[in-house]
Amino acid sequence: MRPSFKFITAIRRAAAAALVLAALALPACSGGPTETSTIDIIHWWKAGGEAEAIKALLDLFRHQNPTIGVVDASVEGGSFEARAVIRSRISGGTPPDTFQANGGWDLMAWVLYNNKNLDLNKMQQIDDYAQDWIKNVPEGVRNSVSYAATPDDPHVYAVPLNIHRLNTLFYNKDVLMNYHIDPATLTSVDALFTAAESIKQQNPQFTPIALGYGQKQSWTLALLFCENLLVARMTGKAYQDLFLAPKPLDAFTPSVTYALEDLRTLVSYANEDAGDLTWDQAMRRVLKGEAAMTIMGDWAKGYANAQPEHYDGNTFGFMPMPGTAGTFIYTTDTFGMPIGASTDTIKLLQTFGSQEGQQTFNRLKGSISARLDVEIALDDDRRPTYEDFAAASASKMIFPATAILAQQTWIDAMSGALADFVGKFPNGVASDVQHTMDNYSDLLFSSCWPTCLTP
Ligand code: BGC
Repeated sequence: MRPSFKFITAIRRAAAAALVLAALALPACSGGPTETSTIDIIHWWKAGGEAEAIKALLDLFRHQNPTIGVVDASVEGGSFEARAVIRSRISGGTPPDTFQANGGWDLMAWVLYNNKNLDLNKMQQIDDYAQDWIKNVPEGVRNSVSYAATPDDPHVYAVPLNIHRLNTLFYNKDVLMNYHIDPATLTSVDALFTAAESIKQQNPQFTPIALGYGQKQSWTLALLFCENLLVARMTGKAYQDLFLAPKPLDAFTPSVTYALEDLRTLVSYANEDAGDLTWDQAMRRVLKGEAAMTIMGDWAKGYANAQPEHYDGNTFGFMPMPGTAGTFIYTTDTFGMPIGASTDTIKLLQTFGSQEGQQTFNRLKGSISARLDVEIALDDDRRPTYEDFAAASASKMIFPATAILAQQTWIDAMSGALADFVGKFPNGVASDVQHTMDNYSDLLFSSCWPTCLTP
């Protein structure tokens, strides 16, 4: 899918038509303080930083729209639990008014409900309301919320709120200094392991790399394996090709085998209770000086800044995952409007797409705004991410997260296989994971987003 003026013009044309319909559909504004409707929203932002960010955004909306109620219908747990509720509500015919989905396949699963085309689509097109933000959102993110049944007819199905980097290493500054590790030397996966080994030699009781893949968070293993280790071993482009240009027996290529061995090595430097912790508990250990480093999406930055102790740049540092410098693996959190949603939902999505909404949310979230016209101050700790994103865009080194590129079924299967692999540490069998990857390759070969791979 190439973006473009053609894309924007087609969206505008659709928008003009839809505006008329929307004007007819929206109820007249009451202007009074009484609540006239209620919107329910589901998301999985429960940890520090992310919880504050969505609260601030919904508060902004409530302030702007005092007559519209917002009910946070989210459930306890993380993305696993939230996606299960979203799935059962949409499939059962009682969709929430809006819900969190990563861009790409996570969202498109509802647009291409039969995995092929729009025949069973569950989502409304929101082209007319995209006008405010669409030209300010980078191409990849724009594409991740769009689907074109024919190349000339793209439509927008959700508002992207943010851009997160997934290939990020966080470290405790004092700890690395005390163990005589200069973060500037962490330029490859092997250098990372050398540093971890050195820490272990100096203090066998100390955790060089904190991990947390417990409590139904085996998605963190997919993040480690796909968006960090594979990218480091095979480059971002080759990682992306696994999904957009798959080849038979990809699962058995040497880079995949190496990345699995890297994962085994990583676990050898991790806390023994990694299978019980969540991602934020692992990050907390780094902040408290109980571990040296962790690898996580940069929502961990929002988490650190939201702690009562308010950790800042004196406590922790972050950098691209060793071996992936210059490459930016991104995801985006998006909100769309299922068919049957309350018409006022569009007002919520307008706030989500506005500069003020994105500023309010992303400052707390640790992400940069999906809109690149939202300013980031020079002393904001998201500034390096913003600059890295710009540099990676210029050098064509930005690549989508696995949630964008692959159906959730593929990710769940891989996360399960990886959990099994690390659960048997040190005896996990790499080829078991590779067989799972191979067994689920049909999903990749038959993918119809962004376009059908096979006719
Ligand atoms: C989302 C992030 C979120 C993280 C952990 C990811 O899927 O994109 O916004 O912070 O999950 O909850």
